[in-house]
Amino acid sequence: MQSEIQYASLTRRGFLAVGTGTLAAIALASCTTPPRFVSPTGTAVQQAEAARGGTGRVTRVDLVAAPTQVDLAGTTADTWSFGSVPAPTIRLSAGDTLLANVRNQLPADTSVHWHGLALRNDMDGVPGATQAPIGAGEDFNYEFVAAQPGTYWFHPHVGPQLDRGLYGALIVDDPNEPLVYDDEWVVILDDWLDGVTGTPDEVLEELRGGMAGMMGGSGGHMMMGARSELLGGDAGDVFYPLYLINGRPAADPETFTSAPGKRIRLRIINAGSDTAFRVALGGHRLTVTHSDGFPVNPVDTDAILIGMGERYDALVTLGDGAFPLVAAAEGKGETALAVVRTGSGETPRATTIPELTGSVLTANDLVADPSAVLPQRTVDRELTATLSGSMMAYDWAINGRRFDPADPLAGALGVTQGERVRLLIENTTQMWHPFHLHGHTYQHAGSGPRKDTSIILPRRSLTVEFDADNPGLWAAHCHNIYHAETGMMTILGYQTA
Ligand code: C2O
Ligand code: CU
Repeated sequence: MQSEIQYASLTRRGFLAVGTGTLAAIALASCTTPPRFVSPTGTAVQQAEAARGGTGRVTRVDLVAAPTQVDLAGTTADTWSFGSVPAPTIRLSAGDTLLANVRNQLPADTSVHWHGLALRNDMDGVPGATQAPIGAGEDFNYEFVAAQPGTYWFHPHVGPQLDRGLYGALIVDDPNEPLVYDDEWVVILDDWLDGVTGTPDEVLEELRGGMAGMMGGSGGHMMMGARSELLGGDAGDVFYPLYLINGRPAADPETFTSAPGKRIRLRIINAGSDTAFRVALGGHRLTVTHSDGFPVNPVDTDAILIGMGERYDALVTLGDGAFPLVAAAEGKGETALAVVRTGSGETPRATTIPELTGSVLTANDLVADPSAVLPQRTVDRELTATLSGSMMAYDWAINGRRFDPADPLAGALGVTQGERVRLLIENTTQMWHPFHLHGHTYQHAGSGPRKDTSIILPRRSLTVEFDADNPGLWAAHCHNIYHAETGMMTILGYQTA
């Protein structure tokens, strides 16, 4: 185990915050020819898509990305959206093909990424890696088989556009759904500033300057002193004036209506950019059934901690009355609110419910359902992703390298199709990061849950395993959009044989 001192001194030299083993590996690699990677449009990707088969049924959707205005409890905000915030939920059945026509009416390039889905690589929506950006005034057809049921979502993969209103839920139904419930509700959480205190591009510019820039006084979006024990310290960098559930602030909450005794499946998605949420339903316990789309052994809890990009499904049996569905912005002292109504009673406004300080579930409390366990296999390849950087310099990086969109494969992690891969995600920073891998759903080591986005606490690490069965070039990054955009991103690339 490395000491904090080693990390600190290495980082100050602006070099790798890694151990000597990794340095040796890098030295070795530089003596050999750099690996060659499969092409997102190549035959390996096409064969993998063909192997998915599918029902042949096609769900067609039109997504028009355009400037718009939203009404946030009486405040009108200019933003960008797919027509509404969130976008209408896209639903299809496992094995069906999604055909999404995206029209870009924004004054900027854009793309759509289908977060969490193991889809064909050339439809993953990462400009520079898997496609050219969709230019202003252009359109692009995304077409792919959605093989795996679960709760997913979509958002652009260009700049900090995720922090605008460009997001929605993508639900892939299981034709043989084993869970029994009366109804289901999509609950999308978001931290909001666009058109209220500025734009995400302004925030990014401020943050880029690091602490030095802030001292210079251009600030206003920076949040100092957001602390959370659950997140191991610093909770976030950005101040948001509003927190939303399904696009609505607490002063104008969405109301979910049902009847006492009904069993509801909640599909909770954190579409925020810099905020983890603690979610609870007043007067109820939640039974968590899925993490990032995949089943887990059900666990009862009072509340759930959900980082950016994560999803949890939970079952709840409703009582009689009106109840607050609360998403507390972890460490930031504000809350998002929706209302669950099954009977008479005053509409709840209170956001300080006892469940928030009861048992709070994280991914560490979960075990994969037997159907979701990766089969036993020896590991063929071990990789490390070391997260480094600081709030002070705003120099977030992976394996000592800040992602360069002009040279996306520099520093790529290489795998070969067919391998069982073990990935160590090591956080050497003073801050937590929600690490996300595209195109795969790994398993947390030691029979943990299947996930594609995981909270990595400061100075902690997480080991995950996955099968390299989806060839292509896959982004791997922090899902704090400001960390990703300033460099905490890399590519997992499949090497050619
Ligand atoms: Cu939702 Cu590359 O991410
Ligand atoms: Cu991060």
